[in-house]
Amino acid sequence: MCGIVGYLGPQDAVPILLEGLARLEHRGYDSAGLAVLTDAGAVRVAKRAGRVRDLAAGLPKRFAGHLGIGHTRWATHGPATDANAHPHTDASGRVAVVHNGILDNAATLRARLAERGVPLTSDTDTEVLAHLVAAATADTLEEKVRQALGQVEGTWGLAVLHADHPGEIVVACNGSPLILGVGNGEMYVASDLAALVRHTTRVVMLEDGELATVTADGFTTSTGKGAQEIDVDPDSYEAGDHESFMRKEISEQPSAAESVLRGRLDERFGTTHLGGLNLDARESRAVRRVKILGCGSSYYVGQMGAGLIEELARVPADAEPASEFRYRNPIIELDTLYVAVSQSGETVDTLLAVQEIRRKGGRVIGLVNVVGSAIARACDGGIYLHAGPEVAVASTKALTNMFLGFALLALQLGRVRDLSVADGRRLVAALEQLPGKMKEVLDTEPQIAEIARELSRAESLFFVGRVRGYPVAREGAQKFKEITYRHAEAYPTSELKHGPLALIAPEVPTVAIVPADELTERNIGALHEIAARGGPLVVVTHPEVDLTGLDVRRIDVPRSEVELDPVLLTIPLQLLAYHAAQELGLDIDKPRNLAKSVTVE
Ligand code: G6P
Repeated sequence: MCGIVGYLGPQDAVPILLEGLARLEHRGYDSAGLAVLTDAGAVRVAKRAGRVRDLAAGLPKRFAGHLGIGHTRWATHGPATDANAHPHTDASGRVAVVHNGILDNAATLRARLAERGVPLTSDTDTEVLAHLVAAATADTLEEKVRQALGQVEGTWGLAVLHADHPGEIVVACNGSPLILGVGNGEMYVASDLAALVRHTTRVVMLEDGELATVTADGFTTSTGKGAQEIDVDPDSYEAGDHESFMRKEISEQPSAAESVLRGRLDERFGTTHLGGLNLDARESRAVRRVKILGCGSSYYVGQMGAGLIEELARVPADAEPASEFRYRNPIIELDTLYVAVSQSGETVDTLLAVQEIRRKGGRVIGLVNVVGSAIARACDGGIYLHAGPEVAVASTKALTNMFLGFALLALQLGRVRDLSVADGRRLVAALEQLPGKMKEVLDTEPQIAEIARELSRAESLFFVGRVRGYPVAREGAQKFKEITYRHAEAYPTSELKHGPLALIAPEVPTVAIVPADELTERNIGALHEIAARGGPLVVVTHPEVDLTGLDVRRIDVPRSEVELDPVLLTIPLQLLAYHAAQELGLDIDKPRNLAKSVTVE
């Protein structure tokens, strides 16, 4: 949520900052701004509500400098207005600050500043930092920033420039990522690698509590930490020939799946190798319960994961939104394995849940995509998802790899218990075949697109499924509402007759998940109940399921082993949402009101 960029060097900072902001826009995109230190030594700021392209189009003449910072925002404190956009400045206009995260005591500090007669020009928490830095008495900018941070509580990734300290930018990190990029006689700052990889692969990822002073020639960090070379493919951050990142990321699922499985399957013993878990066989056996925590799609896939763990390991497992868990003074049991699920590794609700569990002595593992992210670092161990960078707000390939991460974990927990070697081998073989089957689902896209165009006309839809199919339906509804803005509600199919059937009508379609499993007949019974009330039906199912006598639009996916079916059933729902949003002409990668990384509570 929110993106930060910074540049110091011989080039004009402005085009570099604008390009960096465009690459970070998925993190938040309701306003954007830049501050530069001009060669004459003045701080100039340009900021406005809207997209980075609006900012670029409206820049004042001769807005340039060799040192600058920029920000793209997702509003938290105060609406998306020009005044609330970052950078924020002090009253003299000599200090400029961009900030990600949230300052918990901002209201108190704002009141104190107001009492002292300091004019506050925005509704934001960040503005107080500019005033506090300006009032700090230390000699160096880094010490001034440290003094200011000593007065605030909360989380931050931030960058500060100051007209009295030309030639340097001071950055700090605490719960919100901040990365330095080392160039040749120039330095970059960003909150995400996406803004750096086109410029350099030598980076410094700041630790929580760390500050750094950055000049064009180099940097010093408060812990003395040096730069490291990272192995990334800059092209993986580009949409390339695809019309959107979501389209690209959907199509990457087979190869992403291969990456998460690579080197982790043991055909001989029908189990998995998960070195990063830091859990030996005896500790795995001691686990009496599994509790999965995540937000949004990561919570829904957590529900799929809980089902897998119960089926394969016969250990009670459930998933809960991390955002709710932390607020109910949860009972932390030492023989429960807690699992935090997050694509970004930054979602603050999930991060704080992890910290609360560990504070109470619980053991947490992470299923995280972004290597070295805050959640990954906060956990006792984990499974990296290796999905590659995910840019579209609606999660697709990361979600698929989360499911596969759960399958790997469930298999391991099962095989130290009562899951037979034969069953283990059956599932290992099925996992190996999944990438190929994902390709088969993707090949049916034209047919799914046609159905999606019809669904896009509905104002309101149901997504229904039972047991393994229910979290699939929930995730399907989530995708649909996230990017089409249609009302899409998920229900367990079994619950339809207990209420929602009252809403079934010719203008309210239902997308039903009907796999070939022990519940097929019951599911078909529910389809008849919907059809009898004139409700249009789209059924995501397996080829052998006989739907004779029902007037439905049918989407067939290949079967896997029954425990792994949910992941293949999920993919058509991504395509349904995608093509419906495309039909409606919406901004698929950046849906309204949302952001990719939600780093506020
Ligand atoms: C945001 C996004 C959701 C995402 C959720 C969790 O709310 O809009 O699409 O599922 O965050 O993100 P995470 O990075 O923790 O998986």
